[in-house]
Amino acid sequence: MNTVKPNTAHKISFFSTQAYDKIFFEKYNEDFGFQFDFFDMQLNLKTVQLINNSSIVCVFVNDCVNAAVIAELAAKKVEIIALRCAGFNNVDLEAAKKHNIRICRVPAYSPHAVAEHAMAMILTLNRKTHKAYNRVREQNFSLNGLLGFDLFGKTIGVIGTGNIGKAFAKIAMGFGCKVLAFDVVIDSQLERIGVVYTDLNTLFKESDTISLHCPLNENTKHIINVETLSVMKKNVMIINTSRGGLIETSSVIDALKDEKVGYLGIDVYEQEENLFFKDLSGDIIKDDVIQRLMSFPNVLVTAHQAFFTEEALTQISLVTLHNIEDLIQKKSIENKSAQLA
Ligand code: NAI
Repeated sequence: MNTVKPNTAHKISFFSTQAYDKIFFEKYNEDFGFQFDFFDMQLNLKTVQLINNSSIVCVFVNDCVNAAVIAELAAKKVEIIALRCAGFNNVDLEAAKKHNIRICRVPAYSPHAVAEHAMAMILTLNRKTHKAYNRVREQNFSLNGLLGFDLFGKTIGVIGTGNIGKAFAKIAMGFGCKVLAFDVVIDSQLERIGVVYTDLNTLFKESDTISLHCPLNENTKHIINVETLSVMKKNVMIINTSRGGLIETSSVIDALKDEKVGYLGIDVYEQEENLFFKDLSGDIIKDDVIQRLMSFPNVLVTAHQAFFTEEALTQISLVTLHNIEDLIQKKSIENKSAQLA
């Protein structure tokens, strides 16, 4: 039995904490021995004041880690920001460097979790199993309105073939789809199994379904916009499990109204920080854009749940705690892609 707890002097302040975060982090902390402070609020300029005698903060996708918040963190003597996610578009890396704050993330926890959710969204939108479930429970056994199409033989365009896009492309190949891919780096293993890399315009033009798996950055922001939508096939299906900012939401709403986009599946949304991960079932939603999106029968919204599997939460807790321990003890992390600053 390991009784050595080397980290008891270090307290980690968690923001945006959900019940499952507590369960998984407390379970895996048995071998690390950190102290924890859990806050359910998102990190921002106000909530940063909650930090009390803690040199490490642990944040998630919708916490605000901009230059102003980082300056406050530095004033509170925070030395490490540990992201318990892969994407880091919400963090000002330059500001962190300026204040000598180190930043780590979980570069890959379960690419399969997200890739499988993307395929689940495609199958749901296509075969309408969510509607069939409700219909049959009301003893309506009619098939009218449930017509789908064979995925076999269709063309799926994958934008970004890193950990998640690669897992997704393999799943799509398994369905007998033609897979087109666009990435700034070509994956030769995917080419060997039949994935065809092409330019972005060809991918937009030829794909029946487009699935986004690139990070959100200045090159990819609103990669789905009025112009790129105009070159797509009529009735195209668009799936976004990556980041909301990849889609210009107002343009996609217009394209849904014009029946240019036939199906939209989003696990992420540009303004999700005000909505996702919260139970707002008794509230009046003030965001008319999400309400409009949810009113379309051919739009499926899930609330950033693509990562949400037992395997992914295990990996997230273990890698985050290891990252923090490495940064405390060795000042650097062996897996270079885990350390951002
Ligand atoms: P990754 O870093 O392994 O792969 C990203 C790929 O995108 C790389 O191959 C990179 O070359 C490519 N890329 C970069 N710029 C590009 C551009 N301009 N055009 C096309 N491709 C470009 O990242 P991973 O693990 O595959 O994750 C992808 C994204 O998925 C993350 O950035 C994150 O935003 C999102 N994500 C969403 C989750 C969810 O629960 N919905 C969970 C985890 C990640």
